[in-house]
Amino acid sequence: MQVVRTKAEVRKAVRAARAQGKSVGLVPTMGALHAGHRSLVDTSVANCDFTIVSVFVNPTQFGPGEDLDAYPRTLEADAALCEAAGADLIFAPDPDEMYGAAAATTVHVSGVSEGLCGAFRPVHFDGVTTVVCKLLNIAAVDRAYFGEKDYQQLVVIRTMVADLDIATEIVGVATVREPDGLALSSRNKYLSDQQRAAAPSLRQALLAGAKAAADGASGCEAEQVVADVLAAEPLFRAQYISAVDPDTLEPREDDGLPMVIAAAAYMGETRLIDNIRVEG
Ligand code: PAF
Repeated sequence: MQVVRTKAEVRKAVRAARAQGKSVGLVPTMGALHAGHRSLVDTSVANCDFTIVSVFVNPTQFGPGEDLDAYPRTLEADAALCEAAGADLIFAPDPDEMYGAAAATTVHVSGVSEGLCGAFRPVHFDGVTTVVCKLLNIAAVDRAYFGEKDYQQLVVIRTMVADLDIATEIVGVATVREPDGLALSSRNKYLSDQQRAAAPSLRQALLAGAKAAADGASGCEAEQVVADVLAAEPLFRAQYISAVDPDTLEPREDDGLPMVIAAAAYMGETRLIDNIRVEG
């Protein structure tokens, strides 16, 4: 497995793989890889002949006061995980390689990027779609893999790819959880022992909301169930709890299934997100 720093090296590696008739997969990441990323890499390795993992803490998707500087950077361990999983190439560019000093273009997806996390992180999704569009243009892969934990991100990226006729299939991969239900996230590293012990209550709250929805509750009622369960854990401060249409992310307040119930909540300074899909 090679670790490369430049777009030119990625293009060269993809050309060589294509010349051998290989299909190519991309797993875009910000590093600090854990078993959730491992599952994305495993899925790409199982389904593509050549797997690229990008490791880039993308500054444009962090707002002022967010954790850009504190975000964990662990390239050596990330490379070991990718190599063990059978990935072929890591692309780990510097910000200067990724963005020219005079870069003047942003990719903005309206609608699906505006509610949920987008309502609280105004620059976030423009940063995500711009960097993912660039990665898909640099690597021109057959498939790219994203975790369902970041459900809104997945929908925003699918929308971008459809609207801009990008010839890459976007594949969503199920959230990987700790045995107690906590969704794996690079930000779990920020939790104190006490916060970590309490963190699974976000999943428990969503499970309770999903059960209510499956039993006939409206989106609004399901949101209230989630809010009540979460409120019983004093270490959590909910930011939003929203039941939405799985495809359009429009609120499902008065409607029933299908829905995705998505939530973001703070434990101290750490912001955790999770979601649950309830089929009709
Ligand atoms: O999900 C992430 O880690 C990031 O948002 C992504 C898709 C790698 C873009 O920087």
